[in-house]
Amino acid sequence: MLSNQVVPKRVRVVIVGGGPAGLLLARKLTRDGMDCVILERRSRPYVLSRIRAGVLEQGSVDQLREAGVSQRLHEEGLVHGGCLLSDENGHFRIDFAELVGKSVTVYGQTEVTRDLYEALDSDGVPIVHEAGNVRLHGIDTANPSVTFDRGRLNYSIACNFIAGCDGFHGVSRESIPAGARKQFEKSYPFGWLGVLSESPPVNDELIYSRSGRGFALASMRNPLLSRYYIQVPNSENADDWSADRFWTELRRRLPDSIAECLETGKVVEKSIAPIRTFVSEPMSFGRLFLCGDASHIVPPTGAKGLNLAFSDVHYLHDALIEEYRSGDGRKLKCYSESALARVWKSMRFSLWMTNLLHRIPDASEFERRIQDTEFTHIRDTVNGRALLAENYTGLPY
Ligand code: APR
Ligand code: PHB
Repeated sequence: MLSNQVVPKRVRVVIVGGGPAGLLLARKLTRDGMDCVILERRSRPYVLSRIRAGVLEQGSVDQLREAGVSQRLHEEGLVHGGCLLSDENGHFRIDFAELVGKSVTVYGQTEVTRDLYEALDSDGVPIVHEAGNVRLHGIDTANPSVTFDRGRLNYSIACNFIAGCDGFHGVSRESIPAGARKQFEKSYPFGWLGVLSESPPVNDELIYSRSGRGFALASMRNPLLSRYYIQVPNSENADDWSADRFWTELRRRLPDSIAECLETGKVVEKSIAPIRTFVSEPMSFGRLFLCGDASHIVPPTGAKGLNLAFSDVHYLHDALIEEYRSGDGRKLKCYSESALARVWKSMRFSLWMTNLLHRIPDASEFERRIQDTEFTHIRDTVNGRALLAENYTGLPY
């Protein structure tokens, strides 16, 4: 679908990827007078059909509010002042408000994406859906361009800068010469089997459960739509998990007092997501700048994926606007370093939380004792809880 208008022959910024990172960047640039175009490989219904987490740090909420895209978020978002952690000994609450004076907002990523598309349509920003065979050219010159096809037509757009917001499987990261990239990754032998259930959440705040049978998470999308996950080996197949089998296992991993309150409902989505970690450095090369999953993937445990995409957008928007208004490219030169500093802090926290809460299959008895001790440290000390609260609610940009 080609929304709003014809494909421009030149813009200041070509944004590859119409997910949260690309959409928020387009909105922020447009509001500051910078013309851009979004090239999205998939149709809009396809993009809006994705089921993704939506636990927004305050920084992400602030960016959406400043971009004038927060009305529905404030009407429908669920502000959480804490979350629960549980194990076989019971459960306890991490009080974000008391510990760090902050909160998070639960508002599905799909809704964030929908709100951004609506705002960009009203801005008249050209959004090319089903853009095929996107290729970046001259990224290490002063005159980059992007070509793509749509249907039987081929297009070329000249630009000043390219924002690679096309996710892990996109074309942008791979457009940086392999010799100029350093990639870091760690995989886990387990994933998350998730279900979306038409039933009220078992608790009004999220529950992260560390059980001898494996990790479980009780989350939500709204008061009538719940999201649950259980840790499963990578060898598992979602088709082998009936709803009853899932509910039975979930109950066994939640504290009894909570499990007995679990209301089940129609399962409208069921899938297994791998637990991956990945970082590609640098996040810029010449006139190409990477944002979000195009450059990094964090384990979902800390709910950082969307929030990191948005902090990348914060740094890149800030740098592009400085160059646009003053010709000063210093922030653009520092973009990769600035964004990566926060990426690695969020990666550290997400790995720590993953190792704290999951049953690590090949862990030694010694490592399990250390994990037990770490968990009780969080449960029994203000400093331990504050560490989790500070990172979970979002470090400053
Ligand atoms: N050309 C154009 N668009 C592309 C291409 C391509 N070659 N490859 C991928 N895309 C599109 C995808 O269809 C997708 O809509 O780029 C978009 C990337 O969006 P996301 O994958 O959502 O990545 P990002 O915007 O960085 O948001 C990160 O999304 O995947 C979740 O967990 C992740 O919450 C995090 C958030
Ligand atoms: C979700 O609701 O999908 C969700 C919430 C918190 C997480 C991960 C996923 O840490």
